[in-house]
Amino acid sequence: MAFDRAFLDELNARCDILDVVGRYVQLKKSGGRYFGLCPFHNEKTGSFFVKPERQMFHCFGCGIGGGVLTFIMHAEGLTFPDAVRFMADQVGMQAPETQADPREAHRRKRLLSLSTEAARFFHQQLWLPQNAAVAQYFLNRGLSRRTMNRFGLGYAPDSFSALLEAMQEMGYAREELLDAGLASKSERGRIYDRFRNRVMFPIIDVRGQVIAFGGRVMDDSKPKYLNSPETAIFHKSRNLFALNLARKTKSDYFILAEGYMDVIALHQAGFDSAVASLGTALTEEQVRLISRHTGKIVISYDADGAGQAAAQRAIDLLKKTDLQVKVLRIPGAKDPDEFIKEKGADAYRKLIERSESDNAYRLESIAARYDLEEDEERVRFLHEAARTLAGIDNAVEREVYAGRAAKMARVTIEAMEIEVRRALSVRRKKQKTDEKREIRAVISAAQPRDRTLQYQNVRSARAEEGIIRLIFADDSLIDEISSRITPQEFTAQVLQKIFAHALTLHRQGHRVAVASFEGYLEENEMQHLTAVVGGDRVNTAHWQQALGDYINTIESCRMKSGAADSSGEDPLLRMSRIHREKDRLGGM
Ligand code: UTP
Ligand code: MN
Repeated sequence: MAFDRAFLDELNARCDILDVVGRYVQLKKSGGRYFGLCPFHNEKTGSFFVKPERQMFHCFGCGIGGGVLTFIMHAEGLTFPDAVRFMADQVGMQAPETQADPREAHRRKRLLSLSTEAARFFHQQLWLPQNAAVAQYFLNRGLSRRTMNRFGLGYAPDSFSALLEAMQEMGYAREELLDAGLASKSERGRIYDRFRNRVMFPIIDVRGQVIAFGGRVMDDSKPKYLNSPETAIFHKSRNLFALNLARKTKSDYFILAEGYMDVIALHQAGFDSAVASLGTALTEEQVRLISRHTGKIVISYDADGAGQAAAQRAIDLLKKTDLQVKVLRIPGAKDPDEFIKEKGADAYRKLIERSESDNAYRLESIAARYDLEEDEERVRFLHEAARTLAGIDNAVEREVYAGRAAKMARVTIEAMEIEVRRALSVRRKKQKTDEKREIRAVISAAQPRDRTLQYQNVRSARAEEGIIRLIFADDSLIDEISSRITPQEFTAQVLQKIFAHALTLHRQGHRVAVASFEGYLEENEMQHLTAVVGGDRVNTAHWQQALGDYINTIESCRMKSGAADSSGEDPLLRMSRIHREKDRLGGM
């Protein structure tokens, strides 16, 4: 799957992002950036921009971002390798064919069987007497033993080597556990179990093979879930949790939930068509996957703000397909899991049935408030109905219900349509100002928009972002920067990963640019990178001073959090290094 870096560099050099994006989006220049309407979500204001200087694009509205290849992946609905072939074809380059290597096929087979064995191992742990508290955790959350078995739930022991040892005994190599995302490697090269003291949710593909895991802590510590990384057998944007079960459902719709626990609770309550995306926002590939199995989808996300925002993004994506979409609104700010536990399966089924005819239901409930025999009341009904109808995005659907409302109020369809058009224009104006406000909020927010990338230490992470911006503004600064701070000193995992890869690229003589991270970063990580480096021009004139400030901030955060001891560096050595650095700064 991996393409040669030199090939990708050459390909990127031949594709100008402004040219490529310009074929899909009308762009207008503003400062160093070109703005336009985002092709990936519905919007009225242009929050999508291209920054030719960095050969990148980003959208403040939906968060999507990357280089030319990422753009093509989304615009054409292609995987990364296919986007590479697509662009190579356009500029007359021959994409080297990867894959089709029998050794590769063998390796994948081994990883699949290893993952299955690991799932079996975790599952067995669940029923050991010494782990009774773990099984109890699931029981307390309302899961039956049958459900636990059905989903193959398990437990990763609180040990750095339990899985490694068990799997090695079965003949798997440590490197294979690394490749399967089941083990991690420390700085010093030590290999250890990735999942420790977590309840385990195996992720199973449509063929019934275990391909990855999600692991949840049993208390409030962070991160709440640890998921398998992308591996040769696992691409999280192309799979759905519980699709292996949902595809056999008899119901004519799928339920799309946010969390593993929601899906499991739904299945246990008899909703056997529930699936969830895997720790990221819904992707186009997942939408295609769903539409292969059903024509209708009920979105049942958490009732909190983040859940509703995620639902909105999912709707925008689903709108472009033939899928019939309904959105469940769960009263009382609950997620499906909690709601079912409290109110039962029948109450949930009612919610679905009601959502089935959302628009009709809303019209009826408006009509119920007016006496349609009275002229004045009929006019008021007309106004309110028009406002509601203006909220229907689909023009055909809007027309259908406008007709129905006209009949209810006994006015002509034309009169109703004029009302709706008026309400629509009011609404669009408001939407525009709302979008602008939202964009401002996103820009000033201190946290990554993807919840799974959340910063543990915001102040430190802001300084780390500053360092990343310096590197992307001028990669010749890397040598100096890396002599003064290492990726391990970064607190934000995603920034650490970016910094470390920048170092690797630089050492291998490649340029550090957004394009060099495509195919390496996961989609949400790439979006975060473009959010970080997509802003206004970075002033590198005083970079020494800026770097000094960033490093001081990172160090003082570490001191405060008391993690200084666990960083592995001798505290005395560290102090003397800090002094050395201060001297150097003072001498400038
Ligand atoms: P939730 O926090 O809603 O999890 O995140 P949940 O599944 O409902 O879990 P409970 O009920 O608190 O036990 C929804 C999904 O987002 C991903 C997981 O896929 C999770 O199921 N997620 C969440 C992560 O990948 N990492 C996290 O740290 C948090
Ligand atoms: Mn939950």
